[in-house]
Amino acid sequence: MSANDKPTRGVQELRPYDVLTESFARRTAANSAPYLIDFIKPTDSILDVGCGSGSITLGFAQLVPQGHVIGIDVTEKELALARGAATAQGVKNVEFRFGDAHKLLEDFEDDTFNIVHAHQVLFHIHEPVKVLRYMRQLTRPGGLVASGDSADLVFWPHNPAFDKQKEIWYKMCDMKGTVPNAGRFSHVWAREVGFEWSQIQLGSKSEHYFGEAMRNFAAGASKVGYMFREAGMTTLEECQEIEKSYKEWAAKPESRILGLDGWILCRK
Ligand SMILES: C[S@@+](CC[C@H](N)C(=O)[O-])C[C@H]1O[C@@H](n2cnc3c(N)ncnc32)[C@H](O)[C@@H]1O
Repeated sequence: MSANDKPTRGVQELRPYDVLTESFARRTAANSAPYLIDFIKPTDSILDVGCGSGSITLGFAQLVPQGHVIGIDVTEKELALARGAATAQGVKNVEFRFGDAHKLLEDFEDDTFNIVHAHQVLFHIHEPVKVLRYMRQLTRPGGLVASGDSADLVFWPHNPAFDKQKEIWYKMCDMKGTVPNAGRFSHVWAREVGFEWSQIQLGSKSEHYFGEAMRNFAAGASKVGYMFREAGMTTLEECQEIEKSYKEWAAKPESRILGLDGWILCRK
């Protein structure tokens, strides 16, 4: 049976980041949100939307000893990891709660936070512009809205199997109504939700995976194809081929992954 013969059931539930939790847990506020940390004041209140396992969120909490941080996410598994990390690190001014970015206004009042942030979230969700608008609404006048999103991901040496996976991933994004490279144009969304150009700072940063970090990322990424298969977008044979290619590629000591992210920092 070809991928085209199957229905695309469950496409909205596909969550490729679920298999990359270990890689994401290596992120810190310093290496992943460098655009924001210089602006954080010790008394700030911060909302981190789509906080995942909370490693960036915890970094924010440590920068606001007299302030407070809330991390929200729709994945209980990630939230449990985040709460565990907070306890292990003895960070008390942070709270991790279940919360959907699309329903921010149901959970929080307007003008509540000094900073509302999202890292690698807008490009995974269905209505990113609406969510950015909500993020602006929850921010106090004079406060900041910030987001970092993927603009591209490069695997070196080149491997055609990864091109195939990217093709399926783009198709899935199209069907879900999400945009895979939001980091290229999130500044346009910021303008759309009411920030003036003079209020928007933008720039880029990178993520790099080599050695053990690369092998961890590749091990997670090699499994993503199977999710596409459940939605009928690829075949078992293709998934197995992609997984095998990842294994062979990751065994090469020179293999590396370079991620380019675009960020926005908007003053309300
Ligand atoms: C790529 S991970 C990024 C996690 C973390 N911000 C980081 O950079 O390490 C995307 C996260 O967004 C969360 N997410 C996806 N859709 C969401 C939504 N509608 N509301 C809140 N969180 C969401 C996922 O559960 C996941 O933890």
